[in-house]
Amino acid sequence: MEDRHFSFVAGSSGIWDVVAITPVTGASLPQAPRLNIVAGLQPPSTDATWTLRGVTSQERYVVRTEHDRLAAVQPPLGRPQATSAALIPIQKTSAWWELSQDQRRDIFEEQSHHIELGIRELPAVARRLYHSHDLDEPFDFLTWFEYAPDDGARFESLVAQLRRSPEWQYVLREVDVRLRRRA
Ligand code: HEM
Repeated sequence: MEDRHFSFVAGSSGIWDVVAITPVTGASLPQAPRLNIVAGLQPPSTDATWTLRGVTSQERYVVRTEHDRLAAVQPPLGRPQATSAALIPIQKTSAWWELSQDQRRDIFEEQSHHIELGIRELPAVARRLYHSHDLDEPFDFLTWFEYAPDDGARFESLVAQLRRSPEWQYVLREVDVRLRRRA
């Protein structure tokens, strides 16, 4: 069976150069020059400055029409021109996790328009969501995005809009890691 677990290993090796690590809410992550994405759950290594782990999963909030709209426009990861990337690990508050599924969906989409805003930036931005909440990790989600440098401004504008949304009132910790793929 395909392993859906991945590890983001920051340290001295990897195909991604770290451009900046910026704390948005709460504690930052230590600075490191490179990032490697490795299949499987890597154990903590003394060679790594930090390691974050996550697993891809089924959709929680997306309704059928949204799923189909996303599927029609979302590009794959690893496009040659998409040399800019962002790893944004996010931890949500216990108040978020205590809400029911329908309450979370209401905040996520009806109030915050997460999908509606996000889909406008497709296919410029490729994305993948990793879940960490059940893995005893410091973050609940590892969000990953790849885009061409020319589409950077669009991506920044989306990130700024989402951070102003009601959903983000439930963000307890967020770190913004920006990367550039090595030639
Ligand atoms: C590029 C355009 C984007 C699109 C199309 C998009 C779409 C989505 C969708 C469809 C989901 C829900 C998946 C599900 O049903 O479980 C989701 C979840 C999520 N997205 Fe985005 N997103 C985008 C950008 C972003 C950005 C820029 C961030 C961070 C700054 C972000 C953070 C998250 C987080 C943390 C979740 C998990 C929410 C939760 O389960 O509580 N997304 N996104």
